[in-house]
Amino acid sequence: MEAGIDFERPNAARLYDYYLGGAHNFASDRELGEQVVKVMPEVRAWARANRAFLARVVRYCVAQGVRQFLDLGSGIPTVNHVHDVARELAPDTRVAYVDFEPVAVAHSQQLLAHVEGVSITRADARDPASVLSAPTVNELLDFREPVAVLAVALMHFVSDDDDPVKMIEGYRRVLVPGSFLAISQVSDDYDDPDLTAHVRALVELYRGSATPAFLRDRTQIRALFGELELVDPGLVDVNHWHNDVPDPPQLSNYAGLARIL
Ligand SMILES: C[S@@+](CC[C@H](N)C(=O)[O-])C[C@H]1O[C@@H](n2cnc3c(N)ncnc32)[C@H](O)[C@@H]1O
Repeated sequence: MEAGIDFERPNAARLYDYYLGGAHNFASDRELGEQVVKVMPEVRAWARANRAFLARVVRYCVAQGVRQFLDLGSGIPTVNHVHDVARELAPDTRVAYVDFEPVAVAHSQQLLAHVEGVSITRADARDPASVLSAPTVNELLDFREPVAVLAVALMHFVSDDDDPVKMIEGYRRVLVPGSFLAISQVSDDYDDPDLTAHVRALVELYRGSATPAFLRDRTQIRALFGELELVDPGLVDVNHWHNDVPDPPQLSNYAGLARIL
């Protein structure tokens, strides 16, 4: 992971930051981001809903006794980062963040420099062996105890050529009972024709970025969990997972949480 910052080519981490109203993006990201907003007006709500799902998952796992998180594709630190959410409920929670994007990693390093029990690793999440052997991961997290692995808004950047099922299995096999696995991924497998058209147009635009995106249908996304059992309500739209808001809009992202038994 030696490559430096590419100012010219937009990428997922900085585009996501742009949708969320952050300041860690460049002109190239904003230019593509504006095009995306035009073809998919829901994209900002999608990003916020995804962050909200992440926070609900973290609270759920903490309530189940989990005190360790491995956050894959953690992104540019925004408000309500995993350790902030978890530590409101359990101050002893440890979190290992992983991303391969240099701006996300640099800002995480800056933000986390003086925070105990939290690390950031620059690594490619498609390579579980290299993530799990990084000292910033395996010296922080104790895999003899439950760990919640978060792959939130990550798997659509993993192509079928990179074998996403095998990738997830690479993490799952080190998890002891009581651990969790969360996945959310963009999909065009929705009844709403507008939403379907919008998300397909987004994927077209991402072809020109450093991080092309790949759509999966609901069955393919469920398959990423392998044989694992999902906690209720199963694999649902990201906005519908344990959300107290009544009847929220669907946002083209399936999300679920599996418990390792
Ligand atoms: C849409 S953002 C999601 C951020 C955060 N997980 C969330 O849900 O709020 C996707 C992140 O995944 C990162 N990413 C994509 N592919 C990756 C890979 N192969 N290895 C590590 N990080 C990756 C991107 O750099 C980006 O920061």
